[in-house]
Order: sequence, then structure tokens, then C-alpha cells
Amino acid sequence: RERETHPIQSFTMLSVEYLSYNGILFPQADYSRETLNQVENEFQLLDDDIINVTYPKSGTIWMAEILALILKKGDPTWTQSSAVWDRSPWIETNNGLQRALKYPPPRLMNTHVPFQFFPKTFLQTKAKVIYVMRNPKDVLVSFYCFSLIFKTLKTPGSLQEFLETFLSGNVIYGSWFDHVKGWLEMKGRPNFFYITYEELQQDLRGSVEKICQFLGKELSSQQMDAVVEHASFQKMKENKMSNFSVLPDDIIDKKGKFMRKGISGDWKNHLTVAQNEYFDRVYQEKMRGMDITFPWD
Ligand code: A3P
Repeated sequence: RERETHPIQSFTMLSVEYLSYNGILFPQADYSRETLNQVENEFQLLDDDIINVTYPKSGTIWMAEILALILKKGDPTWTQSSAVWDRSPWIETNNGLQRALKYPPPRLMNTHVPFQFFPKTFLQTKAKVIYVMRNPKDVLVSFYCFSLIFKTLKTPGSLQEFLETFLSGNVIYGSWFDHVKGWLEMKGRPNFFYITYEELQQDLRGSVEKICQFLGKELSSQQMDAVVEHASFQKMKENKMSNFSVLPDDIIDKKGKFMRKGISGDWKNHLTVAQNEYFDRVYQEKMRGMDITFPWD
């Protein structure tokens, strides 16, 4: 194993295998082609389903917490007593799919799958999708740090190596660019809502209001305050049902933190000028022609 020199890499890692499903990589642990195929082609979405969709490291757990708190009108009992993967299963994992199949409606679910692997039944239902995006440079750094501590993921190598892997889309769940472009094709559908990590950060309360409107949930001002309070970085960092601390040491290295920094723009502390310029060149080329402006543009 290579020794790393980047300052944010200070852990030794196990290496693990990935499987490929229609050209996209997934960790082998808790994933299978059968489950991915079942999710894509057979899984029945229901009109009252709510699905939180993200590319990894874009604020999945944050949105899962916000949605669970909205459903409970700001009461944190559920988010503090049920692990995030139980209260909102990842449908593409073996365990998550089984849980989703037994989940009494209305269901709250998560997924990272690119649009082409999302349940085909979506197009015939009123199931609501909330798609969260984040500055891909921050996604890169967060993904890198997560790969250093999460033991079902491959050792990322140096940040330079991971930057290349990330930009080429040779990471689990595939290319960030393809993910965003694929999902944003749903823009304009009444059951599709998108928001960015940066907007959540700039105005959490305003964002919660918009999400409530999309979901058709009416919360009082006090209930809204409670959602905002319990979805704060600090509160979530302390919530063992959301901060991954209940996972065993053979899955996550406790020297690292899932709830790492929770800020926008941390990439500036990690990318060199040359890496940033390279990223920008790839970004511009891949995102050419997109009729949308993101907070990070
Ligand atoms: P960092 O690694 O940059 O700190 P995901 O849930 O998709 O895996 O995303 C994880 C990222 O979301 C981590 O980013 C984590 O700290 C951040 N995050 C989680 N909850 C948050 C919150 N309440 N406020 C801000 N960031 C949050």
C-alpha cells in the first residue's frame, strides 16, 4: 500500500471490491446486481412516497434529517431514536430494499442512484423526489475524506489520484456530471424539486419553507423553528442516529468523522491552484449547454 502525503490522509485503509452494474460501480458490501435490477425494473413507487436523491456527499443525511423532522412537525423523537438508514432506507442496497418493501406508507427513502437506475415506475406516479446538489469541488473533498474512513470503499490514494478518478466518473455511483445532468432532466415536473447544499446553508429556514410547500405540509412558525434547530450541523453532529457513530469499527474508522466540517468552500483548503484549474476545465467542458446557474458557478 502506498504511503500518502496529503495532510488530510492519516488513516490506514482496507481495500475492498466494487461491482459494476451497467457500467457504474457500486461497493460489493450490501449491493448486488439483482437488487439494483429489481429497484430499476420492478420496485413500485407509490404516490405518497418521498425520495431524497443525491450524489454521494452532497448533503444526503442532512436532507434526510430535514424531511424526517418536517414529517414529525419539528419533533426530534423519531430522528433521535431511529437510525437514518432505518427511518429512510437507501433503496439500492440489499438491506435498504427489503426495508423499503416492508415500510408502512407513507415512505421516506433515500437513494444515490443515477436517474437511469431509478425505479421506472416513477414516471407513472406522483411520488415526490427531492434532489440535492452540492459544489462538486466540496463533494470531491468530502468524498475523499469519507473514502479514508469508510471501510467498504476503496482506498482513494492521494488527493490528486482521487481527483482524476472522480472527474473520470470511475467512482461509486459514477460521474457527478452525468448524475446531475440526468436528474435535472426531471426539472419542471410537479413531483420533482431540486435544491443545493449551498442554499440550505445560506438560508435553512427559507429552504425548509420551500420543501414544506413542495410536500404540501403546513407547519406553524414554531414547528418550522424546531426543524431548523434540529437540522443544524451541531445538533446533527450530536445525534448518534445520524452521525454514523453507531456503526461498528469494522465499517467506519472512528478516527474520522462522518459529520466532518459541514461548510461550503472547504475545497479551497485542499486543492492546489493547478488542481483547481484542471477541475474548472473539465467542469466547463462537461457542463456546457446546461441552462441552469448554480450557487458555485
Ligand atoms: P463534509 O464532509 O464537507 O463535512 P452525505 O450525507 O451526502 O454523505 O454528505 C455528507 C456531508 O454533509 C458532510 O460534508 C457533512 O458534514 C455534511 N452535513 C451533514 N449534515 C449537515 C448539516 N446539518 N449542516 C451542514 N452540513 C452537513
